[in-house]
Amino acid sequence: MDIEAINSLPYEDFVSIFGNVVERCPIIAAAVWSGRPFPSGAAIEAAINAFIEALPESGKEGILRCHPDLAGKDLQSGTLTPESREEQGAAGLDRMGAAEVSRMTRLNAEYKARFGFPFVVCARMNDRTSIVEQLRERLGNTQAQERARGVEEVKEICRLRLQSLVHSDQKHKS
Ligand code: GUN
Repeated sequence: MDIEAINSLPYEDFVSIFGNVVERCPIIAAAVWSGRPFPSGAAIEAAINAFIEALPESGKEGILRCHPDLAGKDLQSGTLTPESREEQGAAGLDRMGAAEVSRMTRLNAEYKARFGFPFVVCARMNDRTSIVEQLRERLGNTQAQERARGVEEVKEICRLRLQSLVHSDQKHKS
């Protein structure tokens, strides 16, 4: 969709199209709609990032808590959002053996017990080996470091999800 078409969307349609660019947080799309018209897709991304950054630390943790576990029960039961399903599939998390799944489950549980929110990483930029490695490494961080790191990962996930929804003018015209 090009930027002119996006800017002419009523908020119901905007939220239905962009409501999951931040996983299970449609309130963010609903809020940034107020800032239209957007000059570009990058401006939508900037508005989302500014909204997230303006939240108190508890709000940032809330965004992290809206994310399902990687290779978790939602993947097993088919209840992931389509975006998360695709990203976890691209990282190979849907093709793990039982031993790998149970290792991941244990590490996810350890991470949540330590920090109070789930481990979030941009799955599209990783494969299952690097995801497990990072989960192990990041367990050694402080809560503040992980909150900040998780939010950066959310922004990266959002950037890639936006990219597949917003066509640049050049792409649109060609
Ligand atoms: N990275 C990309 N998508 C997701 C997701 O749905 N959950 C988590 N934890 N990380 C992700």
